[in-house]
Parts: sequence; structure tokens; C-alpha cells
Amino acid sequence: MLCISFTRIVNLLLLLSAANVLAGPLASRGPRIVHEKRSPHAAATWQKHRRVDARAPVPIRVGLKQRNIHEIEDLLYSVSDPASPKYGQHWEYHEIAQHFAPEDETIAAVKEWLAEEGFGPERVRLTSTKGWIEIDATFGEAERLLDTEYHVYRHDDGSEHVGCDEYSIPAHVRHHVDLVTPTVNVMRKRTSSDNPRRSLSKGGIVRGPKTNGKKVAAAVLPTDLSTCDTMITPDCLRALYNINMSPTETAVNTFAIVEFTPQSYVQSDLNMFFANFSPSQVGTTPILVSIDGGEPTATVENSFDINGESDLDFEYAFALTNPQPIQLYQAGDAVEGASFNNYLDAIDGTFCTFQGGDNPQFDGIYPDTARGGFKGAESCGIVKPANVISVSYGGDEAAVTAAYFQRECTEYAKLGMAGVSVFYSSGDNGVAGNGGECLTTRNQESTRGTRFNPGFPVSCPFITAVGATQVDPGNPVTAPEGACEQVIFSGGGFSNVFGIPSYQSSAVASFFANHPPPFTAAQFNNSKTSRGYPDLSANGANYVIAIDGEFSLVFGTSASSPVVASMVTLINDARIAAGKGPVGFINPSIYSSAFASAFNDITHGGNQGCGTAGFTAVTGWDPVTGLGTPNFPNLLAAFLALP
Ligand SMILES: *[C@@H]1O[C@H](CO)[C@@H](O)[C@H](O)[C@H]1NC(C)=O
Repeated sequence: MLCISFTRIVNLLLLLSAANVLAGPLASRGPRIVHEKRSPHAAATWQKHRRVDARAPVPIRVGLKQRNIHEIEDLLYSVSDPASPKYGQHWEYHEIAQHFAPEDETIAAVKEWLAEEGFGPERVRLTSTKGWIEIDATFGEAERLLDTEYHVYRHDDGSEHVGCDEYSIPAHVRHHVDLVTPTVNVMRKRTSSDNPRRSLSKGGIVRGPKTNGKKVAAAVLPTDLSTCDTMITPDCLRALYNINMSPTETAVNTFAIVEFTPQSYVQSDLNMFFANFSPSQVGTTPILVSIDGGEPTATVENSFDINGESDLDFEYAFALTNPQPIQLYQAGDAVEGASFNNYLDAIDGTFCTFQGGDNPQFDGIYPDTARGGFKGAESCGIVKPANVISVSYGGDEAAVTAAYFQRECTEYAKLGMAGVSVFYSSGDNGVAGNGGECLTTRNQESTRGTRFNPGFPVSCPFITAVGATQVDPGNPVTAPEGACEQVIFSGGGFSNVFGIPSYQSSAVASFFANHPPPFTAAQFNNSKTSRGYPDLSANGANYVIAIDGEFSLVFGTSASSPVVASMVTLINDARIAAGKGPVGFINPSIYSSAFASAFNDITHGGNQGCGTAGFTAVTGWDPVTGLGTPNFPNLLAAFLALP
């Protein structure tokens, strides 16, 4: 899995921030209430360095409360729970937009507050979405509006960001507002020694899939199934999960993989892989959907860190779904990169035309004024979302405030309502977070932390989180797999933010009842009321990929997510052939009793991290491998049996 730090650079803010210290905010008018505070993690890791120039401009965005948002979970399940009479009756995007648009009263109340503070109608913009109200303010005005002080904060590593410790809004508008940005969340500026072309920080992408550094000479490439324990090939995966169909509805069905610039595939690598493992596909290329200037740039980059993820994703997804065309949602230009919201904007018109769009702290802001940046307007609603979307990128829950994650998570629910299946890799650090970091007792991410560190968006209950398994060393491909314990450990655990979704409650309850983990609340959220992940898993060890002109072995839930997404793409194909619709959000189905035989339960191996052995894969659902790996024919039959 590639890791997104959820950090953004707003170059403008930093360029314009100056060392001169100005007077504190003016006294506030009327009763104010603190609306959001900086997370303990951010407070501990970022030191105030200097005040921001009060005259410098800052785009303030007020995220409005959405109407009916409390219904979203029920509405999602009503079209995705196999027990529901409305199963499969997905919504149109404009219906979703209408249903959740903020109340006029909300918009009016926020506008009135802003007008009282001197932001007349000419300075206030309601996004076409109605999700956000935007004003171009100065920091001085923002400080007065929000009763706060803006500072440049500095990290030990030299990174900087602009924000405040907390902010307040009038009591009478609080219930109309989700959040105001930029404020308490962290946007990071890396040190200047980063080369922007190569820097993984600019797009917030910290590091790539794992390799054990082993090259595979062409002469020893597997030609049969005898070495699946040391080298995974498409044939090994077909054998493991009994995948035995060729899709026929490829002109109608859609499948997309998201890559965040600078990650990029190399066509010559894809061709090299196909020549060996899927000869009819030599020359096959993804259909580029360029989001905010995203372009595959790999031929110039040529490094594992830049090409590993994309090469892996497309080599295997193409081979497993041959001849299904696959879209590449390439998000972000080489300068700004992009975050999850940029691709959500582009694939889901409702996200920026309605729900609420980007947080400038985390999301690339387009047009990008930096040299080499994308000069077009922000990509918004440019493509109908594919039936299946796979994303092998992720971050940690602890990195930012819940308000931002909550808002993004509801967007995945909307995609599910529209019939889209979204798969995310569950992470490669077991119970630890990005970089192997865990949480301290004060909820700060640190290599010295001992508390488990859940990932996001995998902890969002409205996506499908995919963990990793392995063919144990020395075993034939027919033997039961274990949890992946080579090079990477399957991301898994329990959210500190999201409550347990109803589809999962009995699986998680039986995990705690039958296999109580040997940890306490000091290690993880053992309330039994929080979202557990992953949901399911697939092999993530020893993938043979062609990368930068050589065959190498790679590891990670990065591989597992596109493999599961490929299988669901085949299932959608079969459903379309049978006159049915795509499966959409699969979690309520796969946890239901009708799908009990659709998975190979994984019952050994663990996901170590944070100085512990992690959780252990056991009979039934577990926070290492979820429900297990797909038994493809049974999974297909179970979905074909649904309306
Ligand atoms: C545990 O998860 C629940 C969500 O179900 C959350 O409300 C609670 O604050 C979490 N506890 C801790 C200690 O993080």
C-alpha cells in the first residue's frame, strides 16, 4: 500500500506568511464556542514558529452541515443489504445530490453570520455543490472571524504548515457547520531538499509498495504452479481462488484503478509482463482519465518508488480480467500531487457539485500556480464512476481531525448508493500505521508509541478494506493460505473514530467472544463498538512484476486490493450478462449468512506491530484477514443469486 499523509502544501500561504508579529485578534462579538481543536498528535509534533502576516490572503471555506446525512447509512444498506427489498436499486447521482443538499436555512444562517462579520454577499461564494461557502479573506480577517490566531508551525524535520490551535464560531451557527478550513489540521511543507519531481511528499505520498530487493531472472520465471509459495503469478491467483471465467460484457462493464501522481505505470513494463504471462495483452494500455493534470510520467522517473504501485496494479488487474478495459484515474500533476478528495471530485460530480469538495489543507488546489503545475480548472465530475474502483493508497486516522474524515467517509457511502464498489488496501504495517508508527498514550503518532494505529480510509465503514495473505513457504498452491508474514503484515484492527457498522456486528462479536485478543484498552479500541477491518483479503506476497525492465518480487496489500477488485469486476460482468446491475457496496452481502461459503477462512498468521505479535487470524472474521480470501465460484454464485 502507498501511504497518503493527508498533508497539503498551500505554497501561497507559506510564501506570504511573514515573520512580523501582529496584534492578537480583536475581542469577539457575542457568545462564541470552540468548534474544533487541533489533534493531540498535531499539537505535540508541531511547534509554533511565527505569526502569519495578517495582510496575507487565505481562502476560508465553511463546510455546511448536510441535510438528511443521518439517513445515509440506512439508505446505503437499503440498496446493498441482500435482505432489503430494494437491494440493487441504486440511486442516480442527481437524486443523491438533492437528497443531501444543505437546508436553505443552513446556507442563510452562515451567510448572515459572515455578513455581520463584514463579508458581504459580493465576497461570499456558495459552491455549486452547496456543500461549502467560500470567502477570500486575509489572515487578519480570518482571525477575527474565528476568534483565533494563525501561526506557522514547524516540525522537527523542518516541515512547516499554517494553522491555528482552535477556532470558535457563534453558538447559533454551530449546528449548521461541519468544519472551517484551513484551521486545525496539518498541511505540511517539506524541506527544500526534496526534489519536487521525485518528492513523494508533495502529493502526500510517503512511500511505496514493498520489495524484498530480489530480481527474478527471465530464465527462472514460473511456468507452472509449483512455485506459488515463492513467486505469485496470475495463474497462481487463478488456482488459489478458482478464477475461471473470461468476461463478455467488457463494452458495458467498467473498472478503474486510482494512482496518485507521481506514481505512474510504464507501458514497456506492462508489455514485458504480458509477453510472459498474458501474451494476447501485449500493447494493452489503461484508459487514462486525467484528474487535475495527472499524467503517467514514468518513463522518465524509472524507479521502484515511482513505478512499483502502478505497474503492479495494472499488470495483475489486466491479466485477471482480460479482455476488460481498465480506466486509470491518474490524480494530480507532478507538482501538487493530489489527495483522495481530488479523485473523488473527478469521479463523482456530486462531491464537488454538491457535497462539499475539497479541503485546501489536504487537497491539491487547481489551477496550480506553481511552476509546472496544472493550469486547467479543477477536474470535477468529469467521468461517471466505474462500477469497481481500487485504491492502494492510505493514511492514518490519527493524522487529522475526525470532522474531515467523517465528511470524506460519507462520500464513499454516496458512491455505494450509486452502485460503485470501492476497495482499499488495508495497509502493510499490521496493527501499526504508516512508517510503522504507533500511538502514544496521548494519541500521538510515534515510533515509540505502543498503541495500535488504525488506517484511514480503511476504517471508514463504507468502503471494502482488503488485507493480505500468503502461500506459506514450502506449501503447494492447494494448501490453505495464512496471513501475510513476509516483508509486510496485513493492516488490521479497530477504528478509534468510526462505530461498528451493523453488517459487521455479529462477526465482530463472535471474534471477541471466541477469540478474545490478548490486549487491553491500552493497546487498541476494545470497546467492541468500533469498526473492525479488513473485510476480506487476498494474496499479497511474492508477486512477480515487471518493473523498470526487470522482473522483481513485490509484497503488500497493494497487490491484494486490485486482485479482489478484479474478481468483483468479473462478478459484475456475469451479473450484467444475466440482465442485472453491478453489486455496488459489497460489505452487507459478504458478511451475510448466504455468503458463508464464499470465503476461504484464513486461520493462522498474525499482523504484528507496535512491539506486539498483533492480532491472530482465527476461525471466522478476524482483524488480520477479515472474512478470508474469495472462493471465486461460490462468491460469484452468491452474487448471481441476488436480484
Ligand atoms: C472507540 O471507538 C468508538 C467508536 O465506536 C469511539 O467512540 C471511542 O471514542 C473509541 N475509543 C477510543 C479510546 O478511541
